[in-house]
Amino acid sequence: MNYLSINDIDVLSNWVKEAISLKKQPKKFKELGKDKTIGLLFFNNSLRTRLSTQKAAMNLGMEVIVMNFGSEGWALEYADGTVMDQGTSEHIKEAAHVISQYCDIIAIRAFAGLVDKELDEAEQVLSGFKEYASVPIVNMESSVGHPLQALTDAITLEEHNFKNNPKVVLSWAPHPKALPHAVANSFVQMMQKQNAEFVITHPKGYELDPSITKDCTIEHDQEKALENADFVYVKNWSSYTNYGQIKSQDTNWQMTLKKLGKAKFMHCLPVRRNVVVADEVLDSDQSLVIEQANNRTYAAQLVLKKILESNE
Ligand code: CP
Repeated sequence: MNYLSINDIDVLSNWVKEAISLKKQPKKFKELGKDKTIGLLFFNNSLRTRLSTQKAAMNLGMEVIVMNFGSEGWALEYADGTVMDQGTSEHIKEAAHVISQYCDIIAIRAFAGLVDKELDEAEQVLSGFKEYASVPIVNMESSVGHPLQALTDAITLEEHNFKNNPKVVLSWAPHPKALPHAVANSFVQMMQKQNAEFVITHPKGYELDPSITKDCTIEHDQEKALENADFVYVKNWSSYTNYGQIKSQDTNWQMTLKKLGKAKFMHCLPVRRNVVVADEVLDSDQSLVIEQANNRTYAAQLVLKKILESNE
């Protein structure tokens, strides 16, 4: 079993229930991972993913190896038949085989480069490890998805009485840097598995990949979208159509308490205060961001538990 995208979840409500029960007794399965090792490979920075996945593995009794591959590893070649006389030093074929000898599970973070859409959508790092590793692979945020974050968000929603067809709004927010679409994509895919009124709001030109948003409601008027919202998930992403470009830095899209109304505020973190969201929101009781970060451990722990059980 791999955990590469939200599509690897069979029944989301069952996964959420099981994660919440793990949270109550995090050490209950501490024998399950005994004598097993997970390798966490980071091609990009992280705080939450690195520490929560490590904690999740430790709760299951696993040993953990962490490598900042982007800065410490050999530059990897992914294409077949390349004459490797340029910048790459090692082929994914050898690297994935070698790491599989050291680890029982390999977890990978490799963001989109946001330059070449086709290359990003091919998910060459994740796909390369999937093809050549002989152990299960976990996606710790790839070019197009962040399924551990989306599972976390489903857990957090459930813990806040996510019942009776609530209204959930995914709102774009400004950011000085061009950011990937992964978090927004996986949140959309997760919401498509929920019984909720779901609305996406963003300025024109920020449409996400239509093969992901499918028939989701898209409202370009943020104020209208936020009317009677129960949960507001805020995230920046760069343009998908004009791939990787910043088309707007309109500060009017920043989330404020006035706009939030009575809704709960969600964000995956890290977040830029007073750019994406005002201090008054993050410092209010309506913010769920710290709870979301805590739930990263139990989302990861559930995924690792299922993988360990499937390989018993
Ligand atoms: N939300 C999230 O993935 O945080 P990090 O980038 O710090 O891991």
